[in-house]
Amino acid sequence: MENVHVLDHPLIQHKLTLIRDKNTGAKDFREVVKELSMLMAYEVTRHLPLEEVEIETPMGRTKAKALSGRKLGIVPILRAGLGMVDGMLNLVPAAKVGHIGLYRDPKTLQPVEYYCKLPADVQERELIVVDPMLATGGSAKAAIQFIKDKGATNIKLVCLIAAPEGIQAIREAHPDVEIYVAAVDERLDENAYIVPGLGDAGDRLFGTK
Ligand code: PRP
Ligand code: URA
Repeated sequence: MENVHVLDHPLIQHKLTLIRDKNTGAKDFREVVKELSMLMAYEVTRHLPLEEVEIETPMGRTKAKALSGRKLGIVPILRAGLGMVDGMLNLVPAAKVGHIGLYRDPKTLQPVEYYCKLPADVQERELIVVDPMLATGGSAKAAIQFIKDKGATNIKLVCLIAAPEGIQAIREAHPDVEIYVAAVDERLDENAYIVPGLGDAGDRLFGTK
């Protein structure tokens, strides 16, 4: 599917199975989400441009490759997206972090914004929006729209598990956004939870409920 990258690396698939398991507690869940985010960051940054620099090794001068200074931003959708920030920062420590607070109204299923703080130079950055779950797509769709309204033009979306409905919603609303997921699951249930999914990502990360 155009614009959709399903990351099928064995380590990613194995760790995804660990967090799907209902017997995995909050401590391990957090740790594995962090590891997964790091592995996904590796794939998402694959296209970053390189430049040639001259350095001196202990053996003499040489030309070598270095990142050519593209500015990155990581934007977690609160709350559950927070669980993916540290893993990503491990690989791209120079990235700035913006936050978007949204929750899905349990009755209307519509996203409600309660917080938005982005890097001031957001329009110059390549932004990676992170949220473990892409269910109806309502939250990610709204978050991406907020970011675009602030001038951002280069946006990627990284989720652990997506429902086909969520992918469709993002592809329709934001065809310019590349989507990276570890799995596309079967369907949504009557409460718009992903099946088989992993349950409520925020609750499992933070031990609430
Ligand atoms: C979850 C999840 C996504 C959203 C996905 O957040 O982390 O943000 O639901 O659903 P959607 O694609 O149908 O919008 P939730 O609203 O439960 O808030 P939380 O992260 O604070 O728990
Ligand atoms: N939000 C979650 O945390 N899990 C789902 O399955 C759907 C939305």
